[in-house]
Amino acid sequence: MRYIRVLLVLYIVLVSVNAFAGSSESFVKGESLSLPCLGCHGKSKDLSIPSLFGLEEDYIYNSLIEYQTGQREHYLMRIISNGYDDVQLRIISKYYSLQGIKNE
Ligand code: HEC
Repeated sequence: MRYIRVLLVLYIVLVSVNAFAGSSESFVKGESLSLPCLGCHGKSKDLSIPSLFGLEEDYIYNSLIEYQTGQREHYLMRIISNGYDDVQLRIISKYYSLQGIKNE
């Protein structure tokens, strides 16, 4: 009986360590992918280039796809959005949408 309890505790510890490692890894990934955008977009709302903080995840993602496909025309954003694949654009969009909540 005691043996099973020890195994159970070990299992719970391993599962929670794994979950923690997973979430922090994806946050770091989002941060490093999103860092180059800040050079232009910044955090402040009073810039001529719109800040990405606080925008909806879907709005950011759809805008980036529109730049990629040429539906939205902007020379720089077209080049930049083409430098990322679909999964990376999703990670970046999610990252900025979550930053918005923190900054309110
Ligand atoms: C060289 C400067 C520069 C960099 C770097 C840059 N952007 Fe932009 N971005 C702009 C400009 C300028 C606009 C406004 C373009 C327009 O009028 O369509 C823009 C527009 C956007 C928009 C549309 C915003 C809106 O309110 O409709 C999104 C979303 C966006 N950028 C995301 C990104 C992401 C994500 C990155 C990083 C991967 C990035 N940008 C990097 C200059 C930049």
